[in-house]
Amino acid sequence: VVDIRKLYAKTGMFTYDPGFTSTASCESALTYIDGDQGVLLHRGYPIGELAEHSSFMEVSYLLLNGELPSEDELDKFTYTISRHTMLHEQLSTFYRGFRRDAHPMAVMCGVVGALSAFYHDSTDITDPRQRMIASHRLIAKMPTIAAMAYKYSVGQPFLYPKNDLSYTGNFLRMTFGVPAEEYEIHPAVEKAMDRIFILHADHEQNASTSTVRLAGSSGANPFACIAAGIACLWGPAHGGANEAALNMLREIGTPDKIPEYIARAKDKNDPFRLMGFGHRVYKNYDPRATVMQKTVREVFDALKVDDPLFETALRLEEIALRDDYFIEKKLFPNVDFYSGVILSAIGFPTTMFTVLFALARTVGWVAQWNEMISDPEQKIGRPRQLYTGPTERPYVPLDAR
Ligand code: ACO
Repeated sequence: VVDIRKLYAKTGMFTYDPGFTSTASCESALTYIDGDQGVLLHRGYPIGELAEHSSFMEVSYLLLNGELPSEDELDKFTYTISRHTMLHEQLSTFYRGFRRDAHPMAVMCGVVGALSAFYHDSTDITDPRQRMIASHRLIAKMPTIAAMAYKYSVGQPFLYPKNDLSYTGNFLRMTFGVPAEEYEIHPAVEKAMDRIFILHADHEQNASTSTVRLAGSSGANPFACIAAGIACLWGPAHGGANEAALNMLREIGTPDKIPEYIARAKDKNDPFRLMGFGHRVYKNYDPRATVMQKTVREVFDALKVDDPLFETALRLEEIALRDDYFIEKKLFPNVDFYSGVILSAIGFPTTMFTVLFALARTVGWVAQWNEMISDPEQKIGRPRQLYTGPTERPYVPLDAR
């Protein structure tokens, strides 16, 4: 009988790192995070500056091409993206196959996967030009796909893209507009939405991006790889946290209930966690949460709304940040803590929150996928394991068991 542990000893050194807490899976020049200092840079530019001064189209160009665009480059890029916003008409039939009450993330996952059956002319991944066309298609079609998922869930007719609008304006119109009626895009909402997209554009090797890279490492179809990323993003420990955070705030309701929930979050016998709190990499304030908190105030002022949940969120943050448990474990609000409050004020149901995250993260996914495929050192991702099952043993015939 072979002792498997002795076999491991023969195959050299293994690192066992569940959750990859200290293992780099790749080299990347896209995004830098200093979790201790709360720093996030895209191609060297601080996220706060990008959120303040640039647009989602600029950030998309930056992530894909490595440099901020000139005015002319930005115009060309925006025009190219606007040329790819339509979905094949047959896909609207595909939507109708889903249950009316399907979660929009389930719909998005299915529709993006199905795109792999529609675009045979942009899937030769060895050709950089085809890779870029697939990337542009994905960035351009995500708002249409997301808006259609929403329209389907509320039983309203789909709206075609209107390509003279901005990327974000077009998305808002396809989501909230109705046929034969003018939809007035609120400039403050458009700006806030665009900023939210910037904040979600990329975040180095998070679970969904690693999923896209792993799927792509086998040479799989790019649309299928992004569908895999969407599936991974959906979980409440990742992109699903924005939905979970708002549900939690609603459950807490008023500030007087906060101590009860803080106590539950600290109780190791209770699986409850403060959603929108804590991060694998940030052991300081998530810089995206700072921008998000500021954006809540701007949206509330512009729309003249005053949701008491924002007060509850601010108070919860204040109490948690003074609590020894959160201080010791370095748990701070992350990007998802405040985003739900804004998205809800804009009019999105909670089920759409993670869909919006996926829409924006698509640019990061395709940029990372391109970077991986163009790396001459690229190999199929193939983690090993530490086997803990039985050692080799003889087969026992059925009648002898
Ligand atoms: N509330 C209460 N306790 C928490 C929380 C929280 N939100 N987050 C972590 N902890 C505690 C854990 O119980 C653990 O305690 P222990 O050391 O006594 O066992 C310790 O802090 C470390 O937590 P881990 O789960 O080991 O940390 P990890 O890096 O694996 O997880 C994660 C990070 C998943 C984000 C976690 O903080 C969490 O579940 N947060 C809530 C969900 C959330 O907001 N996710 C969004 C992340 S950002 C994004 O994906 C966009």
